[in-house]
Amino acid sequence: MSNNILKGKRGIIFGALNAQSIAWKVAERAHEEGATFVLTNAPIAMRMGEINKLAEKTGSEIIPADATSVEDLDNLISQSVEILGGKIDFILHSIGMSINVRKGRHYTDQKYDFTQKGLDVSALSFHKVMQTAKKQDAMNDWGSIVALTYIAAQRTFPDYNDMADNKSYLESIARSFGYHYGIDNNVRVNTISQSPTMTTAGSGVKGFNEFINYAEQMSPLGNASAEACADYCVAMFSDLTRYVTMQNLFHDGGFSNTGVTQAVIEKFSD
Ligand SMILES: NC(=O)c1ccc[n+]([C@@H]2O[C@H](COP(=O)([O-])OP(=O)(O)OC[C@H]3O[C@@H](n4cnc5c(N)ncnc54)[C@H](O)[C@@H]3O)[C@@H](O)[C@H]2O)c1
Repeated sequence: MSNNILKGKRGIIFGALNAQSIAWKVAERAHEEGATFVLTNAPIAMRMGEINKLAEKTGSEIIPADATSVEDLDNLISQSVEILGGKIDFILHSIGMSINVRKGRHYTDQKYDFTQKGLDVSALSFHKVMQTAKKQDAMNDWGSIVALTYIAAQRTFPDYNDMADNKSYLESIARSFGYHYGIDNNVRVNTISQSPTMTTAGSGVKGFNEFINYAEQMSPLGNASAEACADYCVAMFSDLTRYVTMQNLFHDGGFSNTGVTQAVIEKFSD
């Protein structure tokens, strides 16, 4: 289904690693809706080479950038404006990584070097992207910037570990930067809080399969898929959501406002 709601819009999409990535689905949908964009990921992620298929399919160029490096981001943003032939209308930040999670360190036994690296990659990088874009005056008026997040920022999910703290910081940056970007450039900034989704980053979390099943049963509409998340991102990039900013938007089938469901209650009946 295409309504060309992103026709003429230019974007930068971070975080498409493979066909499971949420960013991959967003790129496919944005392409269907008429957008042109640059794809970017950490140089190390390029080695897998899968992103080339997506670039071919969507007619996009790829510019490697480590989202923690301001120098890389400076280059990415200036090159993107040049390649796309004008200022940027939308940016997707779809980046997350915790070394503590990867190495199986418990939340109460973090290695702080790992913690700091994870915070830089997962949260501070969002500030770096926006600060770099703002300094270059690279965003069009009424442009839209979205980062993906998870409800562990508000409520405790123990196995999400230090990613919970990273997501809280990420969501706070969206509010704080959204204020300044709104006042100065009419640019809107939001986070989308997505259901658990089977991707490379997602499946790194301990007990993820059980957790996805639990969330499915705790959501009146069921878990939102990566494809549905892509639809929501496209809506947020479009002109139909111009006054939505500084929000954390739950895209979770109702999970965040559900205390319990009948399906879960029944699991406790004798
Ligand atoms: N999968 C889920 O259950 C779920 C739920 C809610 C939110 N999210 C969020 O969605 C976003 C995308 O994750 P995903 O599930 O599609 O997994 P994914 O593993 O496909 O994507 C994560 C991406 O981050 C990139 N990345 C890591 N370090 C980087 C760096 N230094 N510079 C640039 N890019 C870097 C990776 O290369 C990868 O492309 C993340 O922010 C994640 O926390 C995921």
